[in-house]
Amino acid sequence: MNQKHYLITGATAGIGLATAKKLAASGHRLTITGRDTQRLHSAATEIALLGDGDVIPQMCDFGDLSQITTMAKALHSDGITFDGLVLNAGIFLPQPFSDLTEANVDQTMAVNFKGPLFTLNTLLPCLKHPASVVFVSSLVVRKAFEGAAVYSASKAAFEAAARVLNLELATKGIRINSIRPGVTATEIQRKAGMNEEQIAGLMDAMKGTPLGRVLAPEEMGEAIAYLLSDASAGMRDAYLDIDGGHAL
Ligand SMILES: NC(=O)c1ccc[n+]([C@@H]2O[C@H](COP(=O)([O-])OP(=O)(O)OC[C@H]3O[C@@H](n4cnc5c(N)ncnc54)[C@H](OP(=O)(O)O)[C@@H]3O)[C@@H](O)[C@H]2O)c1
Repeated sequence: MNQKHYLITGATAGIGLATAKKLAASGHRLTITGRDTQRLHSAATEIALLGDGDVIPQMCDFGDLSQITTMAKALHSDGITFDGLVLNAGIFLPQPFSDLTEANVDQTMAVNFKGPLFTLNTLLPCLKHPASVVFVSSLVVRKAFEGAAVYSASKAAFEAAARVLNLELATKGIRINSIRPGVTATEIQRKAGMNEEQIAGLMDAMKGTPLGRVLAPEEMGEAIAYLLSDASAGMRDAYLDIDGGHAL
């Protein structure tokens, strides 16, 4: 097996954690990030049990550019290099357009757009040639959901940047592809302010999609592992819609 070293942002929960477990179980080295020390170290321990134990935890709040820069400098000075990045950390703060606030736009764009953009930018010296970058986008880029205007724009903004970067970074051997998850059962619904009843209603509504159920974070991990791997070496600026047919 060809062991690789990947960095996954936001690996303390949901899609990031499931992806880290999948990659660790496949024998890869991992650097994982989190913004809460306790959650980060408990995730690292859980992930390490599945692989060869080589999981490096890194604290970083992606809403804070200085923390991204500090993390990248530390990784570079430690001589760490990556075969790929999973730009996964993200937030969903739904808000009706009539209640739009500057704080919502600033926070969403900081974490979902500036975060992955500067993570990739500051980690360029740590990326091997070749390297695969996977962005965790969303179904919202294709399908409209009320209250999700800012969130949708934040995901579309990074996709647009990635299209250009696939050209600009080509000589460095860097390629960028995205997955667009549909409704996936993670903590994000609770963090978005939904109560238990609303979450149950959302999960139930997924019975109406062609797949007939909500998606699981592990299903995203499988697709991310493929985009990181040499099996997808010919792909640039691809978007894997893993939404159970919800956008149809
Ligand atoms: N679940 C869905 O239905 C769905 C659908 C489409 C796209 N997505 C996208 O999938 C990605 C992962 O979401 P998820 O559903 O797995 O959500 P999740 O369970 O809430 O996990 C999000 C991860 O990102 C981290 N994170 C959030 N804000 C951060 C910040 N400012 N700095 C550093 N880390 C931060 C979280 O850390 P904490 O543990 O500290 O919160 C957590 O590790 C996101 O980009 C989301 O937009 C999700």
